[in-house]
Amino acid sequence: MIRDRIDEITRSLVVCDETLRRMMASLEAAFNKGLATETASSASVRMLPSYVRSVPNGTEEGDFLALDLGGTNFRVLLIQIHNREAKMTSKIFRVPDHVMKGSGEALFDHIASCMAQFMEEHGLKNTKCLPLGFTFSFPCKQEGLTKARLINWTKGFNASGVENEDVVDLLRRACHRRGDIDIDVVAVLNDTTGTLMACAFKENSCQVGVIVGTGTNACYMEKLTRCGKLETELDPTDGLPDEMCINTEWGAFGDHGEMESLRTEFDVEVDQASINPGRQLFEKMISGMYLGEIVRVVLARLAREGLLFGGDTDAISKKGGFPTKYVSEIESELLEDEERTFSKTFQILEDLGIEGVSQLDCIHVATVCTLVSTRAAHLTAAGIAAILNRMQKPYVTVGVDGSVYRFHPTFPRLLDEKIDQLIDGNLEYQLMLSEDGSGRGAALVAAVATRMKNERS
Ligand code: BG6
Ligand code: GLC
Repeated sequence: MIRDRIDEITRSLVVCDETLRRMMASLEAAFNKGLATETASSASVRMLPSYVRSVPNGTEEGDFLALDLGGTNFRVLLIQIHNREAKMTSKIFRVPDHVMKGSGEALFDHIASCMAQFMEEHGLKNTKCLPLGFTFSFPCKQEGLTKARLINWTKGFNASGVENEDVVDLLRRACHRRGDIDIDVVAVLNDTTGTLMACAFKENSCQVGVIVGTGTNACYMEKLTRCGKLETELDPTDGLPDEMCINTEWGAFGDHGEMESLRTEFDVEVDQASINPGRQLFEKMISGMYLGEIVRVVLARLAREGLLFGGDTDAISKKGGFPTKYVSEIESELLEDEERTFSKTFQILEDLGIEGVSQLDCIHVATVCTLVSTRAAHLTAAGIAAILNRMQKPYVTVGVDGSVYRFHPTFPRLLDEKIDQLIDGNLEYQLMLSEDGSGRGAALVAAVATRMKNERS
């Protein structure tokens, strides 16, 4: 009886293949819209050119600095590429919430200060200035490899005075203000591009980069003949490859109403309470910043109806009170706990302050977690399948990174199974985890840029 009612309330979270295929068609249309001259400026999926024209060929060499901003961790890295091996030294720094949401100047001062500290610790401060690759994981309008104007913040960032500005310039200015470090930014890139490049260094068939972490996004190597909006900008006689890595920014798919038939009352509630209502709607159904919150909203609804926690809604009503790592932990226990003790799930629910938790409550909470994460994996699969079908290359490696993909117990398998069902029969692919994050990718893009700069001079 209780179970039937729960199934009824949560049914909207199950997405069938037919719906996924419809979504793929609509995403494909959005890709085309984002790439075409006439429609690009009004497209929900922005399809941003990265100015990266080829994947690494393994001959890249040298020492590089890299910055990685926009995921769970802010990292500064030193990367030494030699003989097809990349040696990496890195340090994680915190970006406090008030800095993420304060003034842009303070944010970039913080980044510069972390860099200065890292350079000091590694004896890099008063030596030759190393080329720097800057992974900046937000939608940017690039004007070449070293100029990137932030279009709008996403995820938890909202620092003032940065939108429409060139983030490379803001970084340079922050370094000048300090006066003790010198930097040479040779490439700025999205984390998806960094992931693609990092994986391509190991596996040459890598042509797609996907993130399922705090946010979600994908990039892929697109034929220039399909990028109408680049026509006037590029020189067809430049001798460069006829492809470019395009950062789709698929997280914003749905912002023009394309996901309305799929969004549930729970998604609407999560979106309305977020810092950017109406934006990043696809991302809000998939990524780590929101999955736990969707689960919480569903649980609160079930508790309100007296179907969970003896009708106690207090503890589950606090926004942000159910982080995505709980979803992973609860589902891991569901897989491993053969005796159904639910000890971890009990502990999580009790820590939340819910009183008198029953075993049935644990089962129902685990069911909700599974529904929400399965839907996320299936939506991501539809996105990847849409890209693979569009590319029509016989064998493609898809580089993947992000905390949801790394830490959720069934996400990688569900993703793989569903892509397999959704891609055209003539295509093959493999998913590949980007082991060391996107820092190596940033160094590789920096390496290619440096090589080209040296060749020209
Ligand atoms: C890291 C990459 O491994 O994953 C980052 O180095 C990326 O560039 C991040 O942004 C994405 O995952 P999350 O979960 O940290 O947002
Ligand atoms: C958000 C950002 C995007 C990034 C993704 C993953 O969607 O807008 O640029 O790639 O998060 O970090």
